[in-house]
Amino acid sequence: MASTFETVGVVGLGTMGAGIAEVFARAGIAVVGVETDPGALERGRGHLEGSTGRALSRGRLTEAERAEILGRVAFTTSLEDLSDCDLVIEAIPEVMDFKRALFTDLDRVCKPSAVLATNTSSLSVTAIAATTTRPGRVVGMHFFNPAPVMRLVEVVRTVSTEDGLAEEVAGLARRLGKTPVTVADRAGFVVNRLLLPYLNHAAALLEQGLSTRDDIDTAMRLGAGLPMGPFALLDLIGLDTSYEICEALFRESRERRHAPAPVLREFVTAGLLGRKSGRGFHGEE
Ligand code: CAA
Repeated sequence: MASTFETVGVVGLGTMGAGIAEVFARAGIAVVGVETDPGALERGRGHLEGSTGRALSRGRLTEAERAEILGRVAFTTSLEDLSDCDLVIEAIPEVMDFKRALFTDLDRVCKPSAVLATNTSSLSVTAIAATTTRPGRVVGMHFFNPAPVMRLVEVVRTVSTEDGLAEEVAGLARRLGKTPVTVADRAGFVVNRLLLPYLNHAAALLEQGLSTRDDIDTAMRLGAGLPMGPFALLDLIGLDTSYEICEALFRESRERRHAPAPVLREFVTAGLLGRKSGRGFHGEE
């Protein structure tokens, strides 16, 4: 069945979820943003207001455009409010038990024609889809951080995905001004499968004393023409997310070179998660 995607739900309004909600709202699509915890809901609202406020102060949006974007997003703590959505995208923490419980609930509250999408960067879309009665209507829709800026969306299809659905979701990504690529359900998809081994290697080289954090960052920015050095990028992605992606690559490949660098685990254990916690490899120095 062809989908129109006029109303979209976003569950989880952390950095990625709030960014994804902004992307849909900017494209003129009505958004229902859900966080079951009222404090997290307010933080999500603050994130959207802050991001569009920065665009306003940079002259990228007018007051009226900003008001229209914010007016398209309804904030709620109730999953039941997703019942009319044509597509719901999940952007909650990368814990399989949380995702499976959420998709069981989404399957119950969402209309049968709705597409259920996950923004997971490290977990099996197939395993998430298998908790629902509609695995054919479940896909990965993987955005990149910062979602309003990064132009790629990975559309992940599983062996269960209905014919044509990945193309419909790719069409939606184009409507958002993004460029979609379609990928099979393998750890890391395309980008993280290639990017994280590099970032993990940088962390290992730092531990081995090859150079300093700042010199490695500078070297990769100026020598390889990347917008950010590896430690700045690890902090942006989040060290917990980075660790989880390395673990997923390690689990799937069973190759030692994919094992997360010990320093990553140490930072995560200490709660130093990068930008989202205020400190990671960089921050508060
Ligand atoms: N939210 C919204 N907009 C943002 C933003 C944010 N968090 N951060 C920056 N921007 C916008 C700015 O407002 C600015 O917009 P305008 O040009 O319209 O004014 C633009 O982005 C550029 O920002 P800045 O001038 O402040 O800074 P910059 O030029 O250094 O760019 C950057 C910042 C876009 C983050 C750039 O450094 C970059 O592209 N870094 C690499 C990011 C990357 O690789 N992301 C992918 C990580 S992998 C991933 O996300 C997948 C996963 O599953 C883990």
